[in-house]
Amino acid sequence: MYEKFIVLSAFFLTFLPSCFSSYPFNHRDADPFMSSHVYYETSHLHGHITRSSHTKNRHGNYAPRSSPQAFNVNSFGAKANGNDDSQAFMKAWQSACSSTGIVYIVVPNNRKYMLKPVQFSGPCKSSLIVFKIYGMIEAWENPSDYKVRRHWIVFENVDNLRVEGGGRIDGNGHIWWPKSCKINPKLPCLGAPTAVTFVECNNLKVSNIRLENAQQMHLTFQDCQNVKALHLMVTSPGDSPNTDGIHVSGTRNILIQDSIIRTGDDCISIVSGSENVRATGITCGPGHGISIGSLGEGNSKAYVSNVVVNKATLIGTTNGVRIKTWQGGRGMAKNIIFQDIIMKNVTNPIIINQDYCDRVESCPEQKSAVQVSNVLYKNIQGTSSRPVAVNFACSKSIPCRGISMQNVKLVDQTQQDVSKASCSNVRLNTLGNVSPLCK
Ligand SMILES: *[C@@H]1O[C@H](CO)[C@@H](O)[C@H](O)[C@H]1NC(C)=O
Repeated sequence: MYEKFIVLSAFFLTFLPSCFSSYPFNHRDADPFMSSHVYYETSHLHGHITRSSHTKNRHGNYAPRSSPQAFNVNSFGAKANGNDDSQAFMKAWQSACSSTGIVYIVVPNNRKYMLKPVQFSGPCKSSLIVFKIYGMIEAWENPSDYKVRRHWIVFENVDNLRVEGGGRIDGNGHIWWPKSCKINPKLPCLGAPTAVTFVECNNLKVSNIRLENAQQMHLTFQDCQNVKALHLMVTSPGDSPNTDGIHVSGTRNILIQDSIIRTGDDCISIVSGSENVRATGITCGPGHGISIGSLGEGNSKAYVSNVVVNKATLIGTTNGVRIKTWQGGRGMAKNIIFQDIIMKNVTNPIIINQDYCDRVESCPEQKSAVQVSNVLYKNIQGTSSRPVAVNFACSKSIPCRGISMQNVKLVDQTQQDVSKASCSNVRLNTLGNVSPLCK
């Protein structure tokens, strides 16, 4: 862990001052990601403990003395027989959350549990909760049982939580997608649940989980701090509506690493209030690519800073790396690095759009804008499915500042030729070979 921090710090310290002396990354802010205790690995405990020294606890689970306690959802009445198991999961959660020390919640392998909307809330007495999902969790199919329409599984106000285990979470989105106004414009735009939401969780690690077919977004981190999201596989059809892979909102110090995300909307979306966001080793496509924004909708104030996206591969996505803001917004998106990125047949590989409008009716021209500044595109290569591979459409009243490109080479997929750049209201610095270039 410290190794990572040192590498990251070295990166910030050596690279940034040479390019942007005004870059205000705050590397004195100690550990950008985590307090250590969430990370130590426990290799024992795989849903069954057989050693004779263990004693049976009041739920019929075997738990080793002075070792982590395990709460198996089956012991709380989960049947995995097609009926709703959410009450059993809630009881297991309550028991775990009210126990001290390190606690495990176990969802056994080779079973499929059906859940209605559930909320796992803290604060908890435990020092660490490990939610081990070995089996499969599937969403309840009746939309009218979703009283809060925008959520399915919620973890709220839980500190020191790990969700892991190699299992699968399936939102049964095929029931919701045809009801989307994006699919059927005659229907009202009511939205659909996010499959898994973490709200106000600090020191959180989500790893080795498959998320599939979310009703709308797959995984959201909202107002969390110190988050790691690692080794995730997120998949839904390329034509499923609004199925963002990982959505980051109001979250500070988050690392998203070594994950594959193939969905119908943004691979990763980073919106207002997010700070110190690092995404590395991400493969996207199909989908809409990696987005910062949209920001500033409805004249709102938005603030996103210190984002690093590196070692990403985007395949057949509609955008590569995108910053999108609405006209009329306020605030800023600043200190953003897109580095070591491969694009394959991407429609808009590099794009800043300050005239974003995701409505049927057009959006009126407005003076104010979310300021976009200090953005570096470095070592970006590959192909664009359209002639314009670089598109900076910045605000007339608040132009983009400090936009730098270094070693960028994007060619047109069809012609295998140089592609074009379209640039307005942008001041561009270039280093090394950059193609295409703004005229
Ligand atoms: C490239 O993407 C376009 C759509 O954006 C698609 O029609 C085309 O088949 C793709 N080409 C290849 C070689 O994948």
